[in-house]
Amino acid sequence: MVTTNYLVIGSGVAGLTFSVKIAEKFPERKVIIVTKANEDESNTKYAQGGVAIVLDKENDSFKKHIKDTLIAGDGLCKEDVVKMVIKEGPERLEELLLWGANFDLDAEGEFDLGKEGGHSEYRVVHHKDITGYEIERALLMRAHQLPNITILPHHFALDLITNHHIEGADPEELKCYGAYVFDQETGEISTIKANSTLLAAGGIGCVYGHTTNPVIATGDGIAMAYRAKARIKDMEFVQFHPTALYDAKGESSFLISEAVRGFGAYLRNGEGERFMLKYDDRAELASRDIVSQSIDRELKKSGASHVFLDCTHLDFQAFIKHFPNIYQKCLDNHIDIKTDWIPVVPASHYLCGGIKVSKKGKTTIDNLFACGECTRTGLHGANRLASNSLLEALVYAHNIYKYHVKHEYKSADVDIPDWNDEGTAITKEHVLIQHNLKELQALMRNYVGIVRSNQRLNRAKKRLELIHDEVEAFYKESKITSSLCELRNMINVAHLIVSQSLERKENKGGYFNIDNVKK
Ligand code: FAD
Ligand code: SIN
Repeated sequence: MVTTNYLVIGSGVAGLTFSVKIAEKFPERKVIIVTKANEDESNTKYAQGGVAIVLDKENDSFKKHIKDTLIAGDGLCKEDVVKMVIKEGPERLEELLLWGANFDLDAEGEFDLGKEGGHSEYRVVHHKDITGYEIERALLMRAHQLPNITILPHHFALDLITNHHIEGADPEELKCYGAYVFDQETGEISTIKANSTLLAAGGIGCVYGHTTNPVIATGDGIAMAYRAKARIKDMEFVQFHPTALYDAKGESSFLISEAVRGFGAYLRNGEGERFMLKYDDRAELASRDIVSQSIDRELKKSGASHVFLDCTHLDFQAFIKHFPNIYQKCLDNHIDIKTDWIPVVPASHYLCGGIKVSKKGKTTIDNLFACGECTRTGLHGANRLASNSLLEALVYAHNIYKYHVKHEYKSADVDIPDWNDEGTAITKEHVLIQHNLKELQALMRNYVGIVRSNQRLNRAKKRLELIHDEVEAFYKESKITSSLCELRNMINVAHLIVSQSLERKENKGGYFNIDNVKK
């Protein structure tokens, strides 16, 4: 058994920011970060647009950013949370700069601010179109400078350790003691006992076949918390990004940043019409839920597989300067943005709900905190405003850090049993995992997508139950593999999305059910 003061699950912006801050403050305390892939692999690494922070005091204000966030959230944001997060933005940016992150400047040496859907002003600080890569780089560099942080890559957290695992403990008392962790290289499963545990395991994009997220986004944190009986909320609010690059083979969904529309690009249908003008006064810069739902309508009407993003009228040199990565990716796909329209289609991108946390990042389980995309803080309501996610992770990591400065968690006096895999055998049927995964992703895409109905949701529920039972039986008899655990986690997440969708009787933000439309 390994012991530590702090166990952090995940090495994206949320996990790293907390780890760096707490390790700097308490050099004598130990922080262990377990992360299931290479240490930098995360949604964070792929963030493009940037971080929404009010910096232009002449034209912008906290009030405006708060208002934009509340409008995007369609009445379901927690206003006190929105105010708290937005007002802390400038301070959190200062910290990132201190840790060595670079952001683009304009000709006057001020931050070059971008704009995205739902924002009334220019307020998105960015590093070209690879902002997340830069933030991840800087945070990892700082983490490696701190000797009391140990990062364990290719270590997969399987389950949280709670009273349920401990003989004689009251199973009704919800308390966390760390996690069981699978070393993907050696195949060993170790017990990491922690005084305090932080879940920072990111999003769920891969529950859907088409996603802008990398393969690590399988909802493990939410599934682990759910199995440990933490409260999970707002799972029906899956955000579909309007503009993923269309891939006829359906193999990849590279993101074309919303900042490209902020830069002036137009959305056009196959007829060449700038269709967003029909749907919202803000046209291409309406919030993400509205743009994705409008594209969905256009596609259903025409039967086309994609719409287009037209950049041909834009300042070409300025475009390449701001979006070099997108420009190159398009060229690699034989699309020259100077002359060609980019084929785009919505794809699953972000989960607005997740593990319910307080402003201090506390879950409903003692000694268990959560931060970042796996959480539901109340900031996003029914639809997240673009570029508010990195900000949320930075602010909540800081709040959790502040709470730990005031409250020292001591090691619990309990005997934790080793992971028990008696009666399991190495599976020879890996292909079944792939079949079930494909089935799951297809049913989520077909029945639990941008536009839902009770009939589709109920069909999804029934199919999911079958997949769930099959995979649980398989799990009980098989030795652990990451892909099996991920599949199991995605099934838990899909169940939460479907069941919470069925509970929602009113359409809001990113949730649209045709049976909720008043006739
Ligand atoms: P992540 O960065 O996803 O990190 C999760 C970590 O947990 C990873 O290290 C992962 O390997 C690890 N992990 C997961 N499961 C386990 C397990 N079982 N055991 C061990 N480790 C585990 N937001 C913005 O605000 N602005 C943007 O411009 C922006 N652009 C985006 C572009 C793309 C293409 C994508 C996909 C997202 C974008 N987002 C953006 C959203 C934002 O990037 C994420 O919400 C945010 O980075 C999440 O950070 P996180 O630390 O919570 O999770
Ligand atoms: C983007 O660059 O379009 C993504 C921004 C976000 O998800 O916040």
